[in-house]
This record gives sequence, structure tokens and C-alpha cells, in this order.
Amino acid sequence: MNLKNVRIIEHSLVQHKLSVLRDKETRPKDFREVLKEISALMFYEVTRNVATKKVRTKTPLGIAPGRVISGKMICMVPILRAGLGMTEGIHPLLPQSRIGHIGLYRDPKTLLPVDYFIKLPLDIDKRLVVLLDPMLATGNSLVEAINILKKANVKKIIYLGILAAPEGIKVVQKYHPDVPLYLAAVDKRLNSHGYIIPGLGDAGDRLFGTK
Ligand code: URA
Repeated sequence: MNLKNVRIIEHSLVQHKLSVLRDKETRPKDFREVLKEISALMFYEVTRNVATKKVRTKTPLGIAPGRVISGKMICMVPILRAGLGMTEGIHPLLPQSRIGHIGLYRDPKTLLPVDYFIKLPLDIDKRLVVLLDPMLATGNSLVEAINILKKANVKKIIYLGILAAPEGIKVVQKYHPDVPLYLAAVDKRLNSHGYIIPGLGDAGDRLFGTK
């Protein structure tokens, strides 16, 4: 598999949280909490090289030179539903950043994405977009979400997910080789229903307790 634009975050804490998410005994309350935590830990890597500007800050005892990220530069875009669980973990880290939403569902027969809701900030074309969806399965939803963002003139997109199937990575690399993919792991394969094996099940259902 070509892993050129793929970054697997091997940090022990990330891998530990991933195992908790995978565990079928993890109930929705803990699943939500741990999804927030792993997303925040991974966001640390995603933002490692984000542009900063120099500031001089008055401390109680003097003036300290430093750097800040301009929150206005970033927009987080969860793909509904499961991406919402990741947004809750990372938005508090940069509370001035904006949040857009893309609602897609997979047609169970064709496995192709259907858009049902798109709401993006008007100035999204001037921002770095961090696209959030825990599962990169067939890759079709992610390709469609990136198409939507590129149509809105977004120039810099980073995908942050938790788990991927090799098949999905290949599809995204074919259509959007410019988008870096940050993940905690790449699993073996997809099953015939488009689920990642061994994966963690349906992330939306596990997050919201709908099954
Ligand atoms: N979406 C999920 O929530 N789980 C999968 O395994 C694949 C897609």
C-alpha cells in the first residue's frame, strides 16, 4: 500500500485509546469520552506545523515573546454523524475556530454517499480545513466531502480519522492525492457491507447508542 500521504500516529496513548474504542464492551458513554480524548491527542500532531504569528505577552512580571495560532485560520468540518464525536474533543483546543458540517449517508445498496446537509462558513476558502470522520471505509464519503470543500474553493484540507481500510485509502489517494490522511491505524480490509474488519463496528451507532 502507498502510504505517501498517510500519517499513522503510533503514540502509545493514542494506541491505548484505540483499543478501548475497538472493545465491543465499551458502552456509548465511555466511547464518546474516549473518542474525544483520542481526537484531541491526534489533533496535536495535525497542528504541529500550523502557521503561528509572533506575539509579545505581558506577564505579571514582564514581557514574554511567544507565538499564537490564529483561530480564525482554522475550520473543523465533521462529516455527520460520527465526525461530531471528534469535534467535541478538538474544538475546545482552538475555541475561536469555526465549525462547518457536511451530512452524508451511505446508500446501503450502492455504498455511494448521498449529501443531505451542507453548512460551511462563508469565508471557508481562506481557512485550513480539518475534515473529521472516524472511519475511512470505502473512501466514497471522504472523496465526496473533499469534492464539496474544493468546490467551495478550500485550498488546504487535512483529514483526521481514527481507522481506515486499505481500499478506502487507495480511493482517496486516487482522487485527492494532495490531502494528508492522519489515522491511528489501518486495518485489514472491508467486508461486503463496507465495514472495516476488524474495525470497531458502526462508529455512529456506538457513539449515539442507536443499536
Ligand atoms: N463506518 C463505520 O462506522 N464503521 C465501519 O466499519 C465503516 C464505516
